[in-house]
Amino acid sequence: MTNKLVDKFGRFYNYLRISVTDRCNFRCKYCMPQHNFKMLSHSDILSYEDIIFVVKTLTEVGIEKIRITGGEPLVRKNINYLFERLGGLKNIKDLTLTTNGSLLKKYGKTIFDAGVRRINISLDSLKANRYEYITGGFNLSHIIDSINYAKNIGFDPIKINVVAIKGFNDDEILDFCEFAAENKLNVRFIEFMPLESSFEWKKENIITGKEILNLISQKYDLQKIEKSKLAGPAENYLLSNGAKIGIITPISNHFCATCDKLRLTADGKLRPCLLSNYEVDLKPAILNSDKEMLLDLINKSLNLKADKHPVCKNDKNNDFGRNMFEIGG
Ligand code: GTP
Ligand code: 5AD
Ligand code: SF4
Repeated sequence: MTNKLVDKFGRFYNYLRISVTDRCNFRCKYCMPQHNFKMLSHSDILSYEDIIFVVKTLTEVGIEKIRITGGEPLVRKNINYLFERLGGLKNIKDLTLTTNGSLLKKYGKTIFDAGVRRINISLDSLKANRYEYITGGFNLSHIIDSINYAKNIGFDPIKINVVAIKGFNDDEILDFCEFAAENKLNVRFIEFMPLESSFEWKKENIITGKEILNLISQKYDLQKIEKSKLAGPAENYLLSNGAKIGIITPISNHFCATCDKLRLTADGKLRPCLLSNYEVDLKPAILNSDKEMLLDLINKSLNLKADKHPVCKNDKNNDFGRNMFEIGG
């Protein structure tokens, strides 16, 4: 199979992130504004058949890694059906999920049986009261149980996503390193990105990857782990306590030059860059099952994609057009 999705900077695209819903049972403060946000109506969102059409078309031109995101993907009705169908498609080498973890007891087994092997779970604090505060009322021990449940099913690796925010969870970095070692989980620290939320994003709120590594190295030796072919943007390290940790640095050290991903929103827009509000409506092609038109729209949008995101140049909050919960990370 030839990879035909390439932009004018020579970047090849093999990774599609699909946001299946903008709904979420959590209200994470760094992801959602507290007030005045609008949800998509059911008639706006792509059906599972629509999504499968897009995936089938794109796997013919080089997409081989699919990640299902939200909002919270597992709140969408009959989500197991989508996993079962995608799991049966050829050419997908990696079918994965990013979730808040709360519904893994309900869907984990079906998703595993559909062929998903690795999942990423958001967990921003190991302190029950903080976890409750940041998520809008959810229970930490329930999520820890769900993570253990997922481990017992056989998901491996399970990656824990920690959005690192100064003044919120920066005192828990070493706790997370111990948690990673004790539970054999890969913990990734993510620099806080400036999409609209109820936390005011300021450069001063970011804990950079470098700061995180410096802090960790005061307690542990770090050994860099080389990346595999289908690896994401994280730089990973093995610590002397046995923990595997990663840092994701979209702000302090962006990875745009090797960007390999496309994003499909729940309402059928292609968003070639997370941190740019430029989107193309794919619905006309999807609703007519027109493969040629779909690829044409995608290629045109790739040609308009910038070489890097604008945040590094700009201190102000840019207009990203959507919140994180509407894009899925
Ligand atoms: P793996 O393939 O398992 O490494 O996953 P991933 O890092 O691609 O996916 P995940 O959904 O776990 O994302 C982790 C964090 O990295 C989220 O905060 C994403 O928004 C961020 N991230 C992932 N890819 C990109 C990217 O291409 N650009 C930017 N700016 N952020 C990204
Ligand atoms: N900055 C960085 N990461 C974020 N996420 C959500 N909002 C932000 C933000 N503003 C993370 C979630 C999830 C992943 C898909 O994106 O924690 O793990
Ligand atoms: Fe790709 Fe945009 Fe992320 Fe850069 S910021 S890696 S261009 S999605």
